[in-house]
Amino acid sequence: MIKTSQSIQLVDFLPEQSDRLQEVLEGLTAPNKKIEPKFLYDQYGSELFEEITQLEEYYPTRTELGIMEESLDDILAYIGEESSVIEFGSGASRKIRLLLESGLIQEYSPIDISKTFLKESAEQLAFDYPNINITGIVADYTIGFHLPAHLLDPSKKKTVFFPGSTIGNFEKQEAERFLSRISSTLSSNDGLLIGVDLKKSPSLLHRAYNDSKGVTERFNLNMLRHLNRELGANFSLDQFEHYAYYNANLGRIEMHLVSMLEQMVTVGDQHIHFDNHETIHTENSYKYSLEEFKLLAENSGFTAMKTWTDQEQLFSLHYLSVK
Ligand code: AVJ
Repeated sequence: MIKTSQSIQLVDFLPEQSDRLQEVLEGLTAPNKKIEPKFLYDQYGSELFEEITQLEEYYPTRTELGIMEESLDDILAYIGEESSVIEFGSGASRKIRLLLESGLIQEYSPIDISKTFLKESAEQLAFDYPNINITGIVADYTIGFHLPAHLLDPSKKKTVFFPGSTIGNFEKQEAERFLSRISSTLSSNDGLLIGVDLKKSPSLLHRAYNDSKGVTERFNLNMLRHLNRELGANFSLDQFEHYAYYNANLGRIEMHLVSMLEQMVTVGDQHIHFDNHETIHTENSYKYSLEEFKLLAENSGFTAMKTWTDQEQLFSLHYLSVK
């Protein structure tokens, strides 16, 4: 980690540990066991995800970056001058650098659930772009929270940046609710710049979530290590297997952890029974057609202004304007 002299504002809205335990237990006692994908992102999980984005088989990150580089001027024209950008799920904040380089953005507010990871990347950005006002926000943006008031100044044009196709983690109905919440928080003429992964060959999708180096496998299994450490669980990582496949009928990648034996696991003060080969569903990653996504945008308080894609139509980037 490069040392910086810049300090940033950091606002912490993270839910209580007891609420997080409650949420995990609800998922593990449901008829089909599931844990929300946000539990993939502790410090190590965020690092593993960064490693995924560099994999040859994982096409989304480099494709989205390519689209951004190619259409940068056009994108910046939509964002406008002296504007404020709020990023949901900023992670390593790599893509935003392309936008910040332009000098057009006055204020940048990354939001992420992984506190130390957010702090480090925000401090590095503050060092590299000393003229930009940076407010790091530690929050679980999937459960609704309030943006700090100074970010809602209606006299400043705002763009929410939601890259990487993280919107694909939401069920279709939740995605509509989430986007509607963004459009109603923003003012008319503000915008959403959002990356959306497209439907494509199942074999290509399959490889992207079953990489040959096993990074995605470690990323998925690390969720159990996270729960062991944070919520006092006692999962044995070597008793679960990574399983990811493309469900073409539902248009989504499903990621699971499969128990390789019948066993009991303790989570908090509860004992959870697993049948042999029973799974925990850890992530959905929905893929959209361009038409499906534009319809979703229009149903969520936005006007779809512009869509950019790569030549092979693997990935798309959209600028949506608040109606
Ligand atoms: C960060 C949610 C966009 O769905 O592709 C990568 C997460 N999961 N490999 C995705 C992920 C497995 C990623 N998102």
